[in-house]
Amino acid sequence: MVAIGEALGIVESLVDSPAYLLNSARGDVITRVAIMRLEIGTARMFFDARGVRDGVGFTDDLLGALGSLEYEVTVAEPDQAAALEALGGIRDTCDACHHAYREGDRQAGYRFTPGAGLLGSPGTFVKQAHGAIHEREK
Ligand code: HEC
Repeated sequence: MVAIGEALGIVESLVDSPAYLLNSARGDVITRVAIMRLEIGTARMFFDARGVRDGVGFTDDLLGALGSLEYEVTVAEPDQAAALEALGGIRDTCDACHHAYREGDRQAGYRFTPGAGLLGSPGTFVKQAHGAIHEREK
């Protein structure tokens, strides 16, 4: 399964490249954005099932930001600067949710902040965080 972080990395390199003007590159962006949309949709269900409105709001912000980028890559005359701006909007929504709900670092690994009220027993917590939010492989 492709992690959302990986998908964003690929999208960033495509949007920030001269190749962006090629239909094939923008088509690839659409594919990666669809993957991100799916994954964040799972995260949305995760927060929604627990009644965490803020979390649902963050996922909706990201879905909206993905929509803006999708719009930019499908317009008849691609505007790369506008696409880069839309990309910045996506990053902002990632950061906003991470700031509220994520702790840890690359070395120690990432997890939910304990205060988020989303933790079950340690085992289920790890499974939920890794399985439901970004569906990445450990
Ligand atoms: C709705 C909240 C939310 C949004 C929006 C969100 N994330 Fe996350 N993210 C989390 C939480 C919570 C964690 C820590 C738990 C986990 O790893 O599942 C996390 C962890 C991660 C990790 C760490 C995975 C690892 O290596 O351990 C990456 C990478 C990541 N997010 C990328 C992104 C990117 C890129 C975006 C935006 C496109 C994004 N996230 C949007 C909540 C969110």
